[in-house]
Amino acid sequence: MIVAIDGPAGAGKSTVAKKLAERLGWMFLDTGAIFRAITWYFLRNGYPKRRDFQNMLLGLNIGIRDSRLVVNAVDIGDEIRAPVVDKYVSDVAATLCVRDYALQVEREIVQKHENIVVEGRDTTTVVFKDAELKIYLDASVDERAKRRFNQLIELGLSGITLEDVKRDIIERDRKDKEREHAPLKVSSDAVMIDTTGLSVEEVVDRIVNLVNAR
Ligand code: DC
Repeated sequence: MIVAIDGPAGAGKSTVAKKLAERLGWMFLDTGAIFRAITWYFLRNGYPKRRDFQNMLLGLNIGIRDSRLVVNAVDIGDEIRAPVVDKYVSDVAATLCVRDYALQVEREIVQKHENIVVEGRDTTTVVFKDAELKIYLDASVDERAKRRFNQLIELGLSGITLEDVKRDIIERDRKDKEREHAPLKVSSDAVMIDTTGLSVEEVVDRIVNLVNAR
């Protein structure tokens, strides 16, 4: 069974999906991490021009080990969460050759597992259209900015304000919704959950009930 969780930046997708997978004892795939790993790799290599993305992807190998992404055999850990990756990732993810590459990686990983929770934009509308359960998580912009800000503080980053993070989220929402390939949108057969004011446990409980009902 595939449970696909979609929604905008900071809606709680990663946290909820990870907890849900733990609760169910299933594999967890964070698809945003794949786009982040590609962006990290591009930045590491001098950030190529868009027309050279395809070529650069030829030297990239992304796999998964113990639910963690491995890039060319190296676990790059939290480096993919750095603000510089945040800044470039929407543009990278808007490129068709990158989306094709990520889609292939995602499908390969999912094929190897019987039950899996996949999380990320377009997982319900493009990549796993046939998922047995689709969830769209949302939350207000203020709440999403606050969550992302706290996450960055936990990662030990300083010199960033809540206002900066909010501006970044609004900009990313706009780019993700307006992009030509696989824009962020709500699948008609997805269950919508507004997580504003809900705890992670409450959201996970709701989804577990939906899984059990299928
Ligand atoms: O969820 P996140 O913030 O880690 O996602 C990083 C970026 O990747 C974000 O700008 C949207 C993009 N993304 C995407 O286009 N498709 C996905 N399936 C997952 C993420």
